[in-house]
Amino acid sequence: MEYITEKQLFLLLCLGLSLAGGCVKQKSSGELPQKQGIILGFSQIGAESAWRTCHTRSVKEAAAQAGVQLLFSNAEQKQENQIRAIRSFIAYQVDVIAFVPIVSGGWDNVLMEARDAGIPVLVTDRKIDSDEGLYAGFIGTDSIAEGRNAGLFLLEKFKEPLERGGPIRIVELSGTVGSSAATGRAEGFREVLAPYPQFQIVHSASGDFLRSKGYELMQSILASYSNIDVIFSHNDGMTLGVLDAVKEASLKPGTDMAIVTVDAEQAVINALIRGEVNCVIECNPKQGPGIIRLAQTLARGESISRLIHVDETVFYEWDDLSALPPRGY
Ligand code: AHR
Repeated sequence: MEYITEKQLFLLLCLGLSLAGGCVKQKSSGELPQKQGIILGFSQIGAESAWRTCHTRSVKEAAAQAGVQLLFSNAEQKQENQIRAIRSFIAYQVDVIAFVPIVSGGWDNVLMEARDAGIPVLVTDRKIDSDEGLYAGFIGTDSIAEGRNAGLFLLEKFKEPLERGGPIRIVELSGTVGSSAATGRAEGFREVLAPYPQFQIVHSASGDFLRSKGYELMQSILASYSNIDVIFSHNDGMTLGVLDAVKEASLKPGTDMAIVTVDAEQAVINALIRGEVNCVIECNPKQGPGIIRLAQTLARGESISRLIHVDETVFYEWDDLSALPPRGY
């Protein structure tokens, strides 16, 4: 696409999309503005956590640095808003579309529309169930590996109770139902613990990756269970709510029950250092440079790797964390 017409600009404003990472100059003397670099339509799911805000920042900064014009849309946690945004990107004839799928199913129709319009689509952060022919590739986190790492930590931490025969009672707070981040973490966790029936998941409920829901769920769980050994929380947002509820109940998180969480936000790393959390599995939000690089490759008409997992690590209670650089989120 060479130009952004007034009609398209009007459409953008109507859709509440924001333009970042480059500029579309206003027409001054009857001349249409010339496109600078490529245009990437990006549909983000929302701003549910510090992790997500960092993910958005990473994409916007990388786009600005590369001179990529970013049409950014915040779906406020609704798949229908994402589908509407992707349709507007197609109408707008962007060079590349990238999105974070809030859930893994339900994308086929809109992806077929993008394919028919000849616009390559990059799936980011979370995975989808659609046929691989409907999108160019994926870059994001390995949620199954994250779940496995949570299970492996418990095997180490509970070595002795395990040998004594358990039981080791686990409560799981999972993320958004139907999201690959939640299903992958649940799958990897169960896969590692399956050979050890001493580990019992006595309760599992979705807190939608939200601190408020983590807090509410934990309050009701503490009212129903008195002997929980482990909380496995699928993200730090929910974990912060869990910590509030556990402390309010005059219990000591990290001591009265082990807490394992995913993301590695600064606030939770601080809790790990204080001994209130026992293991933090990093989920890396700094995906912007990779997303922009892949979008540029696709815009040149070249193909990309089908699957790229970003680098991620694990922080344990027995690590020396005194020299850990600030997390930035
Ligand atoms: O998809 C990644 C997950 O989404 C992060 O763990 C979480 O904080 C976010 O909401």
